[in-house]
Amino acid sequence: MPKTGDEVQALAETFNEMIERLQRSFERMQQFISDASHELRTPLTVLKGEIELGLKTCPRSARCDILAACSSEISRMSRLVETLLFLSNTDAERVALDLKPIHLDRLMEDMAEETRIIAEPKRIRVELIDGAGAILHGDEMKLRRLLLNLSDNAVKYTPEGGRIILRSQSENGCAEIRVTDTGIGIEAQDLARIFDRFYRVDQSRSRAEGGYGLGLAICKWIAEAHGGSIHVESSPGKGSTFSVRLPVA
Ligand SMILES: Nc1ncnc2c1ncn2[C@@H]1O[C@H](COP(=O)(O)OP(=O)(O)O)[C@@H](O)[C@H]1O
Ligand SMILES: [Mg+2]
Repeated sequence: MPKTGDEVQALAETFNEMIERLQRSFERMQQFISDASHELRTPLTVLKGEIELGLKTCPRSARCDILAACSSEISRMSRLVETLLFLSNTDAERVALDLKPIHLDRLMEDMAEETRIIAEPKRIRVELIDGAGAILHGDEMKLRRLLLNLSDNAVKYTPEGGRIILRSQSENGCAEIRVTDTGIGIEAQDLARIFDRFYRVDQSRSRAEGGYGLGLAICKWIAEAHGGSIHVESSPGKGSTFSVRLPVA
């Protein structure tokens, strides 16, 4: 059946949109691979340098320090590779959620305890504000990972002696978890980008703290995979609040 001019035009437009979408996703993939390769190359260069120098110059007895430095770089790389694998599995839609009922209050108590442990060396006070006893239908391991990423950031980006507040509430079939800190905050121009893979406001600071700028990308994926969302509000110099919304069971 011959097509009319309009139909051919519509078909051509759909086809062009499809090509543009493919092009954009290909560019994103190329950027991801290039960022990931770059991040892996840096610790590999450090390792190679340390080992070669050690073998050339150090007596056998002094090689322990070098081995310790190598071991810590290797741990960093292993963490990065595990994270990259997780993200690439999410891209390929190979990550399934293991959904079970979760007591939100209990989850928050555990998270507060874990946050206290990482906050203690910086003398950061961690407060937990009681929730409303909601039951979530979620993947507990992944939700813990999400919350721990937020706590980890709150501790990393809050100066000594600060405060972190963990709060949860539920209303209208939705649970909301909030992680508030009294840290350095985030400038408005960076807010939209911090959920992007490898985006860090201050590369050197994040790197020194052991970060790669992938934590929030994972948080976003986990929240959205649950049919929820994640948001941030922040005032530079005062602090930030990350809110996660999740449907309740
Ligand atoms: N609580 C926070 N306070 C200030 N800045 C933050 C906070 N959480 C995240 N950020 C900013 O967002 C960036 C991305 O966070 P993330 O993906 O977890 O990466 P990473 O922790 O590895 O640096 C961080 O590098 C930092 O600049
Ligand atoms: Mg992080």
